[in-house]
Amino acid sequence: QGVSKRFGGTLALDHVDFDLNAGEVHGLVGENGAGKSTLMKILSGYHPEFEGNFILKGKKVHFTSTKDALAQGIGMIYQELSVIKTLTVAENIFLGDPPTTKTGLVDWRRMYREADNHLKQLGMMNIDVRAELSTYTVATRQMIEIARVIFSGADIIIMDEPTSALSHNEIQSLFEFIRVLKSQGKGVVFISHFLDDVLAISDRITVLRNGKKVMTVNAGDVDKRTLTQAVLGKEESVEVGRKQHVDVNTEVTPIVEVRNLKRRRQLHGVNFRVYPGEIVGIYGSMGAGKTQLAECLFGIIHPDEGEILLDGKPIRIANSTHARSLGIGYVPANRQTTLFGSNEIFKNITLTHLSAVCPGLVSVSRELTAANK
Ligand SMILES: Nc1ncnc2c1ncn2[C@@H]1O[C@H](COP(=O)(O)OP(=O)(O)OP(=O)(O)O)[C@@H](O)[C@H]1O
Ligand SMILES: [Mg+2]
Repeated sequence: QGVSKRFGGTLALDHVDFDLNAGEVHGLVGENGAGKSTLMKILSGYHPEFEGNFILKGKKVHFTSTKDALAQGIGMIYQELSVIKTLTVAENIFLGDPPTTKTGLVDWRRMYREADNHLKQLGMMNIDVRAELSTYTVATRQMIEIARVIFSGADIIIMDEPTSALSHNEIQSLFEFIRVLKSQGKGVVFISHFLDDVLAISDRITVLRNGKKVMTVNAGDVDKRTLTQAVLGKEESVEVGRKQHVDVNTEVTPIVEVRNLKRRRQLHGVNFRVYPGEIVGIYGSMGAGKTQLAECLFGIIHPDEGEILLDGKPIRIANSTHARSLGIGYVPANRQTTLFGSNEIFKNITLTHLSAVCPGLVSVSRELTAANK
């Protein structure tokens, strides 16, 4: 009730009311910076300092940490998953707190048995709890993370952007999973920028804009257009679905042309052209070969057959350094592996170009100048 939160000069939340029922999926939408994550980080104990009242199951509460919130049944799944890929499924379920024998050793048998039972109770029948998590897809890992949070005692589960890395089919299986949670009386907060997803899974939807609550409605009472308007706050901006047509000149030489590209069992003769000033979208479900194609264009892997032409000239891209020297940039799907979260922004920008930015000695002031530019 009336939750406000300030970060320095930013009023991230301004007297926001929000409520969640047992067995409900509550969608939370709003533009970047609207305050969605901040509101949920307050509910999950991540931000202990805020103004307003927080009432849980009829009692006023104040959490001092996420651990504290979890102990009282609130768990949050952040966009960047916190499960550990190189551990087994069971180890992830018990993360940090495995069952032990009388002599204080990890009781593996019990751990596997309990993890297996737990997943089955949540309708996840085909998971081998002894397998390393890395053998499963991102979608399954995400469900395992949700299962972990529930196993730690959560009956209120907050999901921040859970569908952004998932394919259509994976979203459907996540939704089935969420419906199981609902039927077990758990409350779910579903944050997403994908309004179709929010409309499909939510019972009610709350819209935040600039830290203020715009509305809370039954999902059945709104359509995407109304929701988009509420999110943006202005009528004339509801152009989201309209195609912006740019005339591409196909008379000139394409800047990139891919001819009959083949690689192992993944790429079977791919052809396309990219003309100057053009954006070409490449669509496909997980495992369709999109990443392989991108990696071929960036020299990370090499095609078995076929040609890549830059400005009309066939070229064999030796490696990623060569690709960069040809003016090709690659932003991979998993940014966690290519960004250095504990380093400054300027370091992240200059790192791959250090020899160009600072020939000779590394100089922070040069790096800063380059990064600012
Ligand atoms: N730890 C923080 N320190 C300073 N400012 C913050 C912090 N966390 C959030 N903010 C600011 O608070 C406002 C709300 O941010 P928040 O992350 O809650 O938005 P959001 O709705 O989750 O956005 P997105 O859709 O991009 O995830 C923004 O202006 C943001 O810059
Ligand atoms: Mg957020």
